[in-house]
Amino acid sequence: IPVDPFDLVIFGATGDLSTGKILPGLYRRDADGQLPEAARIVGAARSPMGDEDFRTLVRAAIHAAIPEKKRDREAIERFLTRLSYVAVDATGEDGWPELAAKMRPDVVQAYYFSVGPGLFGALAERLHAHGMNAETCRIVVEKPFGHDLASARALNATLAEHFDEHQIYRIDHYLGKETVQNLMAVRFANMLFEPLWKAQYVDHIQITVAETVGVAGRGGYYDKSGAMRDMVQNHMMQLLCLIAMEPPYAFEPDAVRDEKLKVIRALDPVRPADLVRGQYRAGGGMGSYHDDVEAPDSRTESFVALKAHVSNWRWKGTPFYLRTGKRLRARTSEIAVTFKDPPHSIFGDQEGHRANLLVIRLQPNEGIKLKVTIKEPGPGGMRLIEVPLDMSFAEALGPGAQEIPDAYERLIMDVIRGNQTLFMRGDEVEAAWAWTDPIIAAWEARGDRPQPYDPGGSGPEDALMLLHRDGRRWREIR
Ligand code: BG6
Repeated sequence: IPVDPFDLVIFGATGDLSTGKILPGLYRRDADGQLPEAARIVGAARSPMGDEDFRTLVRAAIHAAIPEKKRDREAIERFLTRLSYVAVDATGEDGWPELAAKMRPDVVQAYYFSVGPGLFGALAERLHAHGMNAETCRIVVEKPFGHDLASARALNATLAEHFDEHQIYRIDHYLGKETVQNLMAVRFANMLFEPLWKAQYVDHIQITVAETVGVAGRGGYYDKSGAMRDMVQNHMMQLLCLIAMEPPYAFEPDAVRDEKLKVIRALDPVRPADLVRGQYRAGGGMGSYHDDVEAPDSRTESFVALKAHVSNWRWKGTPFYLRTGKRLRARTSEIAVTFKDPPHSIFGDQEGHRANLLVIRLQPNEGIKLKVTIKEPGPGGMRLIEVPLDMSFAEALGPGAQEIPDAYERLIMDVIRGNQTLFMRGDEVEAAWAWTDPIIAAWEARGDRPQPYDPGGSGPEDALMLLHRDGRRWREIR
């Protein structure tokens, strides 16, 4: 779907997110022919720099982010002509009149806050003060959106002084992932799953976001957050919402967000016994968490596993097990829905006869797999085996298929289109913090230390026990 002409200002244009994701993503959209002729991108940051220097920096960023065989020299040069640069001081007056003068009134104006959360308020205020907050302007706000409920509320209130909710795009890049959207298609465009999508037929749900990386390089931020704030409050919560929500009346922003909000509000508080926190040790030639954050006493968790309950008619009784961590065995994100056993087995107790399982894989190898039980082919009698009905997107769509766009590319295009469906509304973010805060407060009050775990594994022993004690097992991280 084409987008309207736009002026996109990226604050923090020289930072990691901008050079690593946003600008290469915009280049890819351009190379695909999605950016209109009149699209312009303005880099804004504190350091003084000319347009040409900025273009040189972005050219290098594209080279670093995109493998050579996927780069198109002509397309890169064309993309660079769209770029210019203004040095602005987020907390002072420098550069603002120049920036304001650059904005064209007759195109979509979007401002991407790719800066630390400490500057969100100041940027919103300056944009307002310089008349850059007209009805049609949009701001894009990165995470972390607050550190707790109080700070998220304060931030929402500050942004609301300068912009309306329909102008605020709070990014959770997990919502831009292809499979996450496919999850909604699978649920709401098929008759097959929805009737079974409830506690009566679903035994339990596992959501895993495992990473192999540690926190080296971002220790300063991460040590103040930990896995609960960094991943659970936002990305994992969004995945849970999409799995658990009622069918929205339409695939429209408020229809979808209203349903997600109801899920968050229906979440029970998590009991301390249903939560495990971990912290990686040194191993495999790599340092420990403590080494990475340079704080030998840190009690911040790099791993969380928990059991959550959504207390509503649909889900009462079906546990949602969530787990996420750094330095684990593999980089894997998936949601696994395990259905209940048939009420009676006419084939007796047979090995190989397992409950149906629907695995929605976010990364790598995006796809959806449904495990069903069939008769083992051959003359060996009525022996049952489990086989996967596999829909790997890469295979299903064939080699000629378009490459799956990165989450950021899709989300930025949605900003320009003015579609907030895949962005978090202010009340949603606050509700997520309202659920997270007491969990964190409880372990802080107890002074809990996270349990150490070996790198390259699946987290602390107790995380395994969380399921064992319910007679269940985590899926392997691979
Ligand atoms: C970010 C977190 O939001 O998401 C990081 O701050 C994490 O700690 C990252 O590594 C994971 O995103 P992805 O897309 O690589 O799964």
